[in-house]
Amino acid sequence: MDMQNQEQTVLVIDDEAVIRRLLCQKLSSEGYSVKEAATAEEVSNKLRNSPFGLVILDIKMPGKSGIELLPEIKAAYPDTAVIMATAVTELSVAIQCIKQGADDYICKPFNLDEVSLSVKGALEKRQLQLKIREYQHHLEEKIEEQTREIRKIFLGAIEALVFALEAKDRYTAGHSRRVTEVALAIGNELSLSENDMEDLRWGSLLHDVGKIAVDQLIQNKPGKLTREEYEHIMIHAQVGAGIVKPVANVKVVEMIEHHHDHYDGTGLHQVIKGNDIPLAARILAVADAYDAMTSERPYRSAMSRKEALDEIKRCTGTQFDSTITTAFFKTPIAETVLTEA
Ligand SMILES: [Fe+2]
Repeated sequence: MDMQNQEQTVLVIDDEAVIRRLLCQKLSSEGYSVKEAATAEEVSNKLRNSPFGLVILDIKMPGKSGIELLPEIKAAYPDTAVIMATAVTELSVAIQCIKQGADDYICKPFNLDEVSLSVKGALEKRQLQLKIREYQHHLEEKIEEQTREIRKIFLGAIEALVFALEAKDRYTAGHSRRVTEVALAIGNELSLSENDMEDLRWGSLLHDVGKIAVDQLIQNKPGKLTREEYEHIMIHAQVGAGIVKPVANVKVVEMIEHHHDHYDGTGLHQVIKGNDIPLAARILAVADAYDAMTSERPYRSAMSRKEALDEIKRCTGTQFDSTITTAFFKTPIAETVLTEA
């Protein structure tokens, strides 16, 4: 039943048949679709079958009273308006009911015009509340959608920065894009969810953005790095996490922060190890290493893809998580190399 139709439905709950008939006749004549119930049990059945826009609830009934029924109806059908029907002598009880969520009360003996005004008012108030809620819901959705859009634009800008940074240097040009391809292939092999794949994609594309803080001369040094130089280069993981933090979600941030962590905990300044390292960071570590080994570096030429795979196998269980490397070897990227060999 849509909101418009439900708006016109009223359930009259009273143990006295004469009163039910009186109210039903009046409200039907005004165009409402009216049903009646004489006991609490009948009420639950009727409400369960089709929710009503409004119920008129008699306070005093044998068995379960209207006062007891009110909270049950409000809890199960918060969108149903409730008008209490009461004798003048029970006015304080009626007011108590309003405090507990009833919308209005009508006094016996009924003035039928007052009844009809009260019903109209309660249904209008309900309609307004539903509209406000719908509007709020719509607004929240819109804001969420725009936040997602804005984040995407910012991440895209950082991505452009990464590509510009890499393009400056012939050793790293295209690195992030290739790493992303490998990481996604591993993620696919591990049947990651769509959201996790999206995080994996952003984290892989942006993982080296922190290199912006690394001295180019040290990064491109042809010889072996000193301990200090190595430590300097490795700040890029922390710096990169800091750069994306304002716009990326926590999974992407942590993935970048931990992408040089060793599975066995032996990496530089490492604070977590094993499965405490986020899964995406463990995937990125393998993808990053594979691309780094198969690319030329200032201090060495590129390894063959087969040699890189052998090296990854050799470091499985120490530097790399075996779950990830096993998945990597099953990807089409690795399989092509293995069948060629
Ligand atoms: Fe890195």
